Amino acid sequence: ATTLGASAAQTGRYFGTAVAANKLSDATYVGILNREFTMVTPENEMKWDATEPTQGQFTYANADRIVNHARANGMRVRGHALAWHSQQPGWAQNLSGTALRSAMVNHVTQVATYYRGKIYAWDVVNEAFADGGTGARRDSNLQRTGNDWIEVAFRAARAADPTAKLCYNDYNTDGQNAKSNAVYAMVQDFKARGVPIDCVGFQSHFNSASPVPADYQANLQRFANLGVDVQITELDIEGSGSAQADNYARVVRACLAVSRCIGITVWGIRDTDSWRASGTPLLFDGSGNKKPAYTATLDALNSG
Ligand code: G3I
Repeated sequence: ATTLGASAAQTGRYFGTAVAANKLSDATYVGILNREFTMVTPENEMKWDATEPTQGQFTYANADRIVNHARANGMRVRGHALAWHSQQPGWAQNLSGTALRSAMVNHVTQVATYYRGKIYAWDVVNEAFADGGTGARRDSNLQRTGNDWIEVAFRAARAADPTAKLCYNDYNTDGQNAKSNAVYAMVQDFKARGVPIDCVGFQSHFNSASPVPADYQANLQRFANLGVDVQITELDIEGSGSAQADNYARVVRACLAVSRCIGITVWGIRDTDSWRASGTPLLFDGSGNKKPAYTATLDALNSG
């Protein structure tokens, strides 16, 4: 097939991108989006600061623009993110204890209810584990409400939207290390105790300091073996030319080799759309031209 989405669909997978609402008026951007992608993740518009800027007052206009565009063009939506230590509105940053816990549960419930039936998968909890060798939870105001905050968020999301897949999403968990071991243990525990979890997202932000791990496929596979889907949720890889292209192909091949790796999302369309202030980590250049990384990704999808 000749597009990322159609090529991924040959093996039953999706190929997605992060989308920013304020770029939906950019014809080049929308042209590539509609041609290439079958899944969309709002880059910022569903986060807590965007959807509940004042406690109890919900604003969905920007998120709705993305959801409506996706659905009108036959794309599905990954919701991102219901509970996260970052990008909280100021009022939530100033809460703690039971007040914060109640606010979090209400937020998860309200947003998941508002989008009930329209979201393929939710990143219910994002980035809850610490970097480094401890395997500990990340310290945050949410973590300080009690270690059960993650499972409470998953149960609230399930109750609000029983058909959405519920994911845990994180970075630096792409290979086997202390952080991914800790997430693995949590997922294993959730499955054993019946806490609703359907998928694990591997953000996969790669650069020279954090390259595509040698055991990427093995790590995806061990999570899949727990009985969850795995998804590559925020892929970008610093570099250029054939080296970058080879790395993208490696990521695609790893996913295709794991039957429960059901889709890949890149974190933006053109290099100029990337959250990385400088650099060229995506599949299209600033003018919207296909890069060698695009061709390598397409070819790898087609050989799957
Ligand atoms: O919307 C405001 C605007 O009103 C203001 O004038 C401007 C000035 O700074 O900031 C704008 O907000 C920015 C927002 O992006 C929208 O552009 C924030 O400052 C900026 O921090 C925010 O960055 C986002 C970042 O998450 C925040 O943590 C990136 O776009 C987004 O790509 C990035 O995505 C995260 C995932 O959610 C989770 N995993 C890591 C990934 C990369 O950091």
